[in-house]
Amino acid sequence: MLVSKLPNVGTTIFTRMSQLAADVGALNLSQGFPDFDGPQALREAVARHVMEGRNQYSPMTGLPTLRQQVAAKIARSYGVQRDADSEITITPGATEAIFCAVQALIRPGDEAIVLDPCYDSYEPSVELAGGRCVHVPLALPDFAVDWQRLADAISPRTRLLFLNSPHNPSGALLTRADLDKLAELIRGRDIHVISDEVYEHLIFDGARHASVLAHEELYRRAFVVSSFGKTYHVTGWKTGYVVAPPALTAELRKIHQYVNFCGVTPLQFGLAEFMAAHPEHVEELPAFYQAKRDLFCDLLAGSRFTFTRAPGTYFQLADYSAIRPDLDDVAMAEWLTREHGVAAIPVSVFYQSAPEDMRLVRFCFAKREETLRQAAEKLCAV
Ligand SMILES: Cc1ncc(COP(=O)(O)O)c(C=O)c1O
Repeated sequence: MLVSKLPNVGTTIFTRMSQLAADVGALNLSQGFPDFDGPQALREAVARHVMEGRNQYSPMTGLPTLRQQVAAKIARSYGVQRDADSEITITPGATEAIFCAVQALIRPGDEAIVLDPCYDSYEPSVELAGGRCVHVPLALPDFAVDWQRLADAISPRTRLLFLNSPHNPSGALLTRADLDKLAELIRGRDIHVISDEVYEHLIFDGARHASVLAHEELYRRAFVVSSFGKTYHVTGWKTGYVVAPPALTAELRKIHQYVNFCGVTPLQFGLAEFMAAHPEHVEELPAFYQAKRDLFCDLLAGSRFTFTRAPGTYFQLADYSAIRPDLDDVAMAEWLTREHGVAAIPVSVFYQSAPEDMRLVRFCFAKREETLRQAAEKLCAV
């Protein structure tokens, strides 16, 4: 009989809530993807590359032109030069990059620190490598790093720390001062960092993203991960990249070449072409998503939910204590979906053990104005 290597993993809440939303015909503000399409020029470019026959394996490291475009975007956004050949690898999604980075870093018995609430792929990746996650909760209500708890969680077995900014599900941002503190905390220790920055361009109210790419000391021990899916509204393309110093990149590539070998070729051609022609796309993203966040929040102000506007990502947390304090958040998300026609994600699923009295659900506002208006109307009636 096969003994599961991941006995605690079942169908994820994201799959379950999207399925429930489809079953009951609810508006789906649960899983993190847009209900609008990526730029037409990008989709046309990919279609053309498919028709022109660019359909065979691309280089294992990713198409050189796409890696060069990523390097150019990094230089524009963060003012640092990262080498397209030795530091940038194109992957089938940020998730594969995270998986490969973990396999490169973690050996049996090692510990990885995750800051709860956290994205659900981190822990299974660590467990499959024979490691163990140590969960450190972020401090409420702002989901800030609790530096004392983090320091206390570091042991001689700690090999890895996960960062995620802008943060899913809270939208919280790490500042440059946070990165400095972290660098000081792990200085002189054999600890690496995976910095999950898939929402790097979704940042609001004039804030700047503090990327590990631009923090020389942390970058020397980091894998920085991003996702074309999030940045270009094409999550279903599952195409991302990872940036790391040459020695780390070399180890990651040894694994990546046997997990997937390469990303999807015509998608890479299309993305490279679009990025070269439309560098302004990423600069326009903050205003594009901030308008959606503000529309959703302005409309939700007429409801009994309470919230603080998300500083980043395309997620908005909402507290429902004034509505159904009797329901835990999983029950609340199901009740909202079935009874009120709006699907959300319970926040406790991002925790190893969530605070008992937490009454938060996460809405995804990467939706058309019409969807946001319809959803808000239903939520105001709750
Ligand atoms: C924090 C975080 N990391 C990684 C990913 C996955 O990105 P990709 O679809 O490129 O694998 C997501 C997707 O929701 C995410 O929210």
